[in-house]
Amino acid sequence: MKILGIETSCDESAAAIVEDGRTVLSSVMASQIKLHTPYGGVVPEVAARNHIETMLPVIQEAFRAAGAGWDDIDAIAVTRGPGLLGSLLIGTMTARTLALIKDKPLYGVDHVLGHVYANFLEAPGEDPERSRRATTPQFPFLALVVSGGHTQLALFRGHFDYRLLGQKLDDAVGEAFDKVARVLGFPYPGGPEISRLAESGNDRAYRFPKAKTRGDYNFSYSGLKTAVLRQAQTLAGGDFRTPSFEVHEQLTPEQIADLAASFQKAAIDALVDKTVKAYREFNPKSVVIGGGVAANQLLRDELTRRLPIKVQFAKPELCTDNAAMIAALGYYTAQVQPAIDPLKLQTDSNLSM
Ligand code: KG4
Ligand code: ZN
Repeated sequence: MKILGIETSCDESAAAIVEDGRTVLSSVMASQIKLHTPYGGVVPEVAARNHIETMLPVIQEAFRAAGAGWDDIDAIAVTRGPGLLGSLLIGTMTARTLALIKDKPLYGVDHVLGHVYANFLEAPGEDPERSRRATTPQFPFLALVVSGGHTQLALFRGHFDYRLLGQKLDDAVGEAFDKVARVLGFPYPGGPEISRLAESGNDRAYRFPKAKTRGDYNFSYSGLKTAVLRQAQTLAGGDFRTPSFEVHEQLTPEQIADLAASFQKAAIDALVDKTVKAYREFNPKSVVIGGGVAANQLLRDELTRRLPIKVQFAKPELCTDNAAMIAALGYYTAQVQPAIDPLKLQTDSNLSM
């Protein structure tokens, strides 16, 4: 079964064709990062307008790269939430229109769940048999989704049979990386830059608080983000009125690297501590990680070091937002649910697992 996946929940227009929820025949993405960088974050109106321009060429490229035509496509899957409403509307309207005029079954899926299902995909070019044995998550599995918008830990007993153990109470972990990067003088998205800087910094230079969320599985990053800002302002002369985007001008490169390393350690430790705690409580057969922050090397190393089983990470290009994960999730959705009437598919910007 070949599914066309469409993803536009934030600042990436993406389309992919995936066979049987596993084999990526094509995965195409037009990133808008350059458009949003001058503003220090994603501007919803700019994102939606750009999706209108890129959506159809991206879909065409997905067909071309897969060497496929409409006759090969069995169904369409599209992200219906959560995300930016204007951006979601462009993707869902495109999918609904195509489903109607091409007469294809349509499935609306959850973006965050999509990040989990990225772990069912084999990497492009990988030997399918080897990949099948090596990477298919085994139920029950623990899933940690960490991105610019989400921080969630869930226990999956089967497809669509999951329990959300915990989630963000304020900022998402990727959002904290992006905001700290801004304090340290780096453009959006700052996660990759923080982890690069952290390699040369001392992660014990500053002691940042790990949020205590009363023994549960929730995550809180806004206190950590503010602690980094206060420490930076203290180093820059102690004036707490110094705007967050100017403070880096008064810091030395060593101080910036030490702040990055100390922040990253506190941020990643909180994720790893809760994941290890959940592993001990629920004893899952697999642990899978998804979302842009899953590309973070310290997170990968620490989970590998502290968990007794091999942790599964999607390939970096499948960790960040993409449409292949949406097509994979669409495949599993099609096994258990009837297709939705294209005239009735609704977007839900606050959709929650
Ligand atoms: O999944 P994603 O592409 O988009 C959302 O759904 O949000 O995640 C993007 C987020 C950004 O906040 C970015 O800074 C973060 O992932 N990120 C990283 C790294 N690479 C990307 N954070 C920490 N370390 C990284 N290496
Ligand atoms: Zn995402």
